[in-house]
Amino acid sequence: MEKLIIQGGTPLIGSVEISGSKNSSLPILAAMLLCEGKTTVANLPHLQDVTTLLELLGSLGVELSIDENRYVEADTRTIHSLATPSELVKKMRASILVLGPMVSRFGEAKVSFPGGCAIGSRPVDLHIGGMESLGAEITIENGFIKASRRGRLRGATISLPFPSVGATENIIMAASLAEGTTRIKNPALEPEIVDLANCLNVWGANIRGAGTPTILIEGVPKMNGGFFRVMPDRIETATYLAAAAATGGKVRTRHVELSNIGSVLEKFRKTGGDLTHGTDWIEIDMQGKRPKAVDFTTGPHPGFPTDMQAQFTVVNSVAMGTASVRETIFENRLMQVQELRRMGAKIDLNGNLAVVTGVPKLTGARVVASDLRASAALVIAGIAAEGETTIDEIYHVDRGYECFEEKLHKLGAKITRLPD
Ligand code: EPZ
Repeated sequence: MEKLIIQGGTPLIGSVEISGSKNSSLPILAAMLLCEGKTTVANLPHLQDVTTLLELLGSLGVELSIDENRYVEADTRTIHSLATPSELVKKMRASILVLGPMVSRFGEAKVSFPGGCAIGSRPVDLHIGGMESLGAEITIENGFIKASRRGRLRGATISLPFPSVGATENIIMAASLAEGTTRIKNPALEPEIVDLANCLNVWGANIRGAGTPTILIEGVPKMNGGFFRVMPDRIETATYLAAAAATGGKVRTRHVELSNIGSVLEKFRKTGGDLTHGTDWIEIDMQGKRPKAVDFTTGPHPGFPTDMQAQFTVVNSVAMGTASVRETIFENRLMQVQELRRMGAKIDLNGNLAVVTGVPKLTGARVVASDLRASAALVIAGIAAEGETTIDEIYHVDRGYECFEEKLHKLGAKITRLPD
């Protein structure tokens, strides 16, 4: 397995260009299946997860082309299969997002039952319940979710017991071609939901209220497709701001979407960093100082994003003071703690609560990445630490960060990737 070698101790200084949002790209690529006409998506990040979903669309027979601007065009008239290859679904849970579009447009779908992953069991009961509420018939057999419908799906009122991002996305996509009105109560409010709804409306859907506590979808008979540009990645943005905060640096993130950064900016302000912004950039200047410790609890948007928990735990690891970090979304998303302890972090764990007492300096060590965001956290820790850090199983980071080492290199990080 590939590993990263990092010589730590240098503050990150400079500017970094933010790529398109991974968690917006994935549902939007799945939504291409809804359209009879051609669809073109711009600003897709060059990531393993995006490649995996494009491979999955290709395996169904979707004709895909990528131009010199990396715009991806899809033509679904050539679809010849409605069964997703299980090895691709195993690679990426988000493959479940093709379920709604496929059963709604084509009347059937066979999707390998997505397993859990390092951060939790990640059930899909809310996805399945949403499809059944719209009239789909779902069976689970031989490790597959099989969906079918008699006639078109029918609009329904669906109250989600938990504002699941993926389930909200699957229901929105399936309801777009259903007969009648669908009302989703307690949907996810994340910016990626708004981006998806904006995209679907450009492609011919009729969706109102995305980003609010009630989403209304008027089903349409067909969607003709069109062009859409994916929004910037808010988690990538915040990851680079966290890297600056943990290393006492000064970093400007460019091509960002200010409106989608949300509550995390307030937490960066509490570190004592000097935050400034323009129309499409955000900068944090630590003026060479250690951050102040900041308490936070993850929660559904607009709460503190769980996808930033591991990275901000590193900021607290080198902060002045003690902070509590509480993870409420996933049952096992504090795995970076034991690796950070190997680097000298002082963290007490009690269930989903980590109490972090900042130390002046972490020390380099050999650590193992466990999942996407924990990997990014360990990279930040390695850059902040004194000495050399080796991070094994670094492939996780390629799922969510485009050109991660190159972008960090430009900010002054001493980082190299070695094949195993
Ligand atoms: C999306 O995952 C993101 N992934 C995750 O980002 C993110 O952490 C998560 O939303 C929360 O914000 C993509 O958008 C591709 P959920 P998703 O459904 O949709 C439980 C990253 O690092 N749940 O909101 O899977 C579930 O177990 C990734 O970029 C059910 O119980 O998240 C979890 O505890 C990681 N039943 C909670 O809800 C269901 O049917 C949140 O899950 C679905 C979810």
